[in-house]
Amino acid sequence: MQALSYKKSIKTKILGIVLLSIFIITALLGYLSYDFSKRRLTSMLSESIRGIAATTASFIKAEDILLVLLYSDKIKEKYMSMSSVTFSHIYEKMEGGQKNVQEDRFNEAMGVCVKYKDILTNIKKMNMIDTPINIYAMGKNGLSLVLTTENTILTGANYNLRPESEKAIFTNLAQSTGIYTDKDGVWISAYAPIPSVYSEKDKMLVEISYKIDAYIYRLRKELGIIILVCLIGFLVTAFMSYKLVSALVSDVQKLDKAAKEFEEERYDVPVDIKSDDEIGHLADTFEKLRVSIGEKIDELKLAIVREKRAHLESIVALTNAIEMRDPYTKEHLNRVEKYALLIARWIHLSKGEMIELKYACFLHDIGKIYIEAELLKKVKLAPGDFEEIKKHSERGAKIIEGIQFLEGVKDAVLHHQERYDGKGYPGGLKGEGIPLLARIVSVADAFDSMTTTRPYKKKMSFEEAMDEIERNAGTQFDPKICEVFLRYRNSIEKIAKKHFICSVD
Ligand SMILES: [Fe+2]
Repeated sequence: MQALSYKKSIKTKILGIVLLSIFIITALLGYLSYDFSKRRLTSMLSESIRGIAATTASFIKAEDILLVLLYSDKIKEKYMSMSSVTFSHIYEKMEGGQKNVQEDRFNEAMGVCVKYKDILTNIKKMNMIDTPINIYAMGKNGLSLVLTTENTILTGANYNLRPESEKAIFTNLAQSTGIYTDKDGVWISAYAPIPSVYSEKDKMLVEISYKIDAYIYRLRKELGIIILVCLIGFLVTAFMSYKLVSALVSDVQKLDKAAKEFEEERYDVPVDIKSDDEIGHLADTFEKLRVSIGEKIDELKLAIVREKRAHLESIVALTNAIEMRDPYTKEHLNRVEKYALLIARWIHLSKGEMIELKYACFLHDIGKIYIEAELLKKVKLAPGDFEEIKKHSERGAKIIEGIQFLEGVKDAVLHHQERYDGKGYPGGLKGEGIPLLARIVSVADAFDSMTTTRPYKKKMSFEEAMDEIERNAGTQFDPKICEVFLRYRNSIEKIAKKHFICSVD
């Protein structure tokens, strides 16, 4: 029976699917959890900074900023040390015809600078902001810094603002950016427009850029914890799944083991499954079949043994009949059987062919029971005697004709005296046309005849007989059979020594 085989067990398949699913779900949950935290943080900070920027803008009057712009050069000249309120940009609309302003207006502009410095610093403190709050005004070169809470930042510079700043100016609504990164860290910025009093073109806005590195650091720390929790969750779930799947497929594995035992023809191994589910039902059915088939096979084996014994007894009865006529023949048959079975093993005959060969060896001379006992004992044979002896193969085949279990043996008995070159009898068959079993019996029979003494001839030595086999290979005998016979001469010699009545020279 061909062995059942599979590349992957059901346990491996289920575990593979379950573990892969758990891994994907865990990874997805981890990612979604991190993404949700990040979005929530971004949204919260964005809203918060935007709100602060809008509140700050509501404290600022556009005319104050314009006044500061008007006196920016003078302020710069007088108070060079006050870098936070120095200006380089002159607002285009206010510059014409305003050069001879009065001193009190200049002082007023200075007062505005100081006022907003205080307001903006307080807003920073209240909202725990440690980054600058800047006020920009639109000039011919775009937005330029007018006022700032930081001494280190130069006013008048045209800083590179985010696109949301333009959106805030043109929509007149406070805007905030998403998270962005530059060489100084991670940021969120908000821009709030300052209501204009003179013209739609007098655009101003408040900028707050909030550094959120600390929040990002905390978020990454949280991500580490999320990964750790997911990993622990994965390992625990994987372990539990392994245990669950092992328990579930345990009965399937037992059933598979039982099937393998059955496959290897061990019908006496019971199926050890006690379960009330579908597998249990399958196991019960399998067990009933196993017992039933086991009993039938035992019966069949017994019947085969009996039949073989009956066959052998029939053959023994037939060979006994020959022995009564010629005692030499029975020993001859035993030795021929030994040589022939050695050849059969070397050329890898099937078990069935070997049984038929064994029967053929015992029965190949059965036709000799028709030969007169005196003729078998004659020292010198007349030509007519040879003709009589030659009839034994046809007579032997006739004797066993119609015996069903000897159907395949009949041809070997009939043709065991054929020659490979076609000069044998009774059919004059040639080469491969001679049945294989007959060709094997022919070599074994001839070798035994050569190495034993008969009333009409003397025996040859073992070496002489071997030479004779070699010499007649391809003429009398099948050369392939002779080749293996000669190759394994040591084994032949052992058989010869063990079974010869006569010694081997
Ligand atoms: Fe013979």
